[in-house]
This record gives sequence, structure tokens and C-alpha cells, in this order.
Amino acid sequence: MRAAAPRPSLPSGQQPGGPLTALAPMQDVTDLAFMRVIAHYGAPDYFFTEFLRVHAQSRPEKHILRSIDENTTGRPVFAQLIGEDLGHLARTVDELLRHPIAGIDLNLGCPAPKVYKKNVGGGLLREPDQVDRILGHLRAAVPGLFTVKMRIGFDDTTHFDRLLDVVNAHDVDLLSVHGRTVKEMYRSEVHYDAIAHAVARARCPVLANGNVTSAPRAAAILRQTGAAGVMIGRHAIRNPWIFRQCREAFAGRPVPVISLGDVREYVDRLFHATRPADLPERLHVNKMKKYLNFVGQGVDPTGAFLHDMRRTETQAELFAVCDRHLLAEPGRAFSSEPYPGVIARPNCETPAAEAADGCSLETVTA
Ligand SMILES: Cc1cc2nc3c(=O)[nH]c(=O)nc-3n(C[C@H](O)[C@H](O)[C@H](O)COP(=O)(O)O)c2cc1C
Repeated sequence: MRAAAPRPSLPSGQQPGGPLTALAPMQDVTDLAFMRVIAHYGAPDYFFTEFLRVHAQSRPEKHILRSIDENTTGRPVFAQLIGEDLGHLARTVDELLRHPIAGIDLNLGCPAPKVYKKNVGGGLLREPDQVDRILGHLRAAVPGLFTVKMRIGFDDTTHFDRLLDVVNAHDVDLLSVHGRTVKEMYRSEVHYDAIAHAVARARCPVLANGNVTSAPRAAAILRQTGAAGVMIGRHAIRNPWIFRQCREAFAGRPVPVISLGDVREYVDRLFHATRPADLPERLHVNKMKKYLNFVGQGVDPTGAFLHDMRRTETQAELFAVCDRHLLAEPGRAFSSEPYPGVIARPNCETPAAEAADGCSLETVTA
């Protein structure tokens, strides 16, 4: 009998021996166009797709497959699944293995009530035995890399150690930990001590996730947690230079300063890259507002850019606002940290967004 082929090791990062960086999976955000825009400013080491829903009628969503098949970023893409049915998860893995994925990632964190009530995503954290079955099944189905992204618990951290032991038992290759419980949504502080606990208990490398707002913060979080790297979501929408800045900070070099003029160029690139040919102008302007909600957190401390941007309806109005706020003093620095009190409204931190869906920009209206 032939021995099974050894599993591949994790793709190496761009900074040999340095900490890893990853773009967090974000539904309605991390599609092919967005990944390409991010790569233009400095790709993370790893990309993750937004979650592919897995159930009896599901087929891998075509637009998510495009982010795998047409990936020109030069960096690997992991395909994220959300679901709990063992047979359909294995079938979906088989389908995805025909595409150039770096590995399969399982979502154990989505806090949206409509998701966790179906006992998938973050809902599964209440049932470590079921997680055990799912991880065992997926580990057997995935010949290559199998990774998990989790929160630290559902209501509290009661099951955290057991879940980490399950992760170890099934030889998970990489674990991303968002340091909040499901019930904490995006409201609370991030519990970096819990991420440090996961680093100490897990046998695989751990990526620290949650409020990694800047390269200096990333370096501090790595020191605090001992994690192998950072996973960054919303703050990469705000600042697509963040992965390059992280690499500079990790190497002890000065972090490049971004100007408002640079941000104006980013807005232009994002607008054109993410516009589907058939989307009416008004709808695309609304879609842009969802990204700009985050960008605005670094433009001015009063929130004036956000105020004006939210009132635009046409491409011309949107760019006029961008010109006024970003090109008046194009050399002025774009804040590397979000300005305190300037929030993307409604965002993942507001009850309105929670009530609808904890992790979808579709619910974020201008
Ligand atoms: C708009 C949006 C969509 C998200 N979609 C997903 C998803 O598809 N899969 C997932 O595991 N997490 C998803 N998340 C959670 C993020 O991956 C990440 O864990 C969370 O935003 C915390 O990281 P951050 O503070 O760097 O944003 C989403 C978050 C946001 C804001």
C-alpha cells in the first residue's frame, strides 16, 4: 500500500521568516476586483474568499470562484466555507479542488443572527462535538491545507479550550482567531489575551484578528499574542497600503506615510475596478459609499468627508467631494489610525447593523 502523500506546508510569506499577513474574508468585499486593488498597493501573504455557503442546493458561487480562477495577485487564495452538513461540505471540497485554491478554510465565527441560528458559522461554537465531527470530516476530505477561522466562543469562552483541542486533534494547518465572542459582535474590545491563549494551546500557526488598525498596532499585537501573523479586514478597506506598511514595520524600517492625494488615487482605482459593466451609476455610487465609510475614518477628525460623501448620488458628485476633501491639501498625511469617534455608520459596531446581519456590507446603507 502506498503511503499518503505528505501534506504541503503553508505557502511562505513575502518576508522570509517574518510574520504573516492575511486579508480577512469579507462578504461583498473580498471579490476578485477588490483583491486586485489591494495587491496593487501591496498584497498580503494570503487571501481568503468571502464565505461559500454550503447546503443541499448550494453550488460554489460563480463570482467567488472568479476570485480563485482569475487570481493575478501572485499570492495564494484560500476558499472559505460556511455550513454544517458533512456530505455537502465534502462535495463542495471536491468541487473546489478543481480550482487553484491554496486550501480550504472553515468559518466558525460569523455572528449574523440569520447565520448562527442555522447553526453554522459562529453558531457552531456552542457545539464542540459537532465541530469535532465537521473538522474530522473535512480533514479527511481535504488532501492539502485545511484552515479554520474562529471567534473565541459564542456567549463566553467556556468551550474555547475544548475547541482548540479539537483543532489540534484534526491537524488544522492554520488557525485565524478573531478575539471576540459571537455575542460581542464587533462591539467589545478585542481579547488579545485569548488570542495569546490560543497561540499557546494550538499546535498550528495562529493569525491574530480583530482591530488590527495599523502597522504599529500589528507589531504590538504580535508582541502581545505571540501569533504567527495578523489577519486584517476593515482596516485594509480603509488603508490598502497596510500590508506593505506591516512588512516595513516588522522589518524595523520606517512605515511609509500615505498622503490624501494617494487616497484620492485609491478611490479612483477602486471605483473603476469594482464597477460591473451592467451596474447603473447610482447603485455603484452607493456601493462605493460602503467602502468610503471606512476610508473616511482616516481623512479628517471631524467626519466632514463622511458627511459630504454620504449625500452624493452621482459619480460626478462623489468625485467632486473627494476632490474637495482629498486634493485641497494633497500632501497632508492620511491618518494611519482611524480618528477616534469617526465611525463608519451604520457599521459592524452599531446595533442597527447587528439586527440585520453582523458581517455584510449589503446592510450598510449610506
Ligand atoms: C463586511 C464584512 C464582511 C465579513 N464577511 C466575513 C466572511 O465572509 N467570513 C468570515 O470569516 N468573516 C467575515 N467577516 C469578519 C472579518 O473577516 C473579521 O474577522 C472581522 O472584520 C474583524 O477583523 P477587522 O477588525 O480586521 O475587521 C466580515 C467582516 C465584515 C466587516
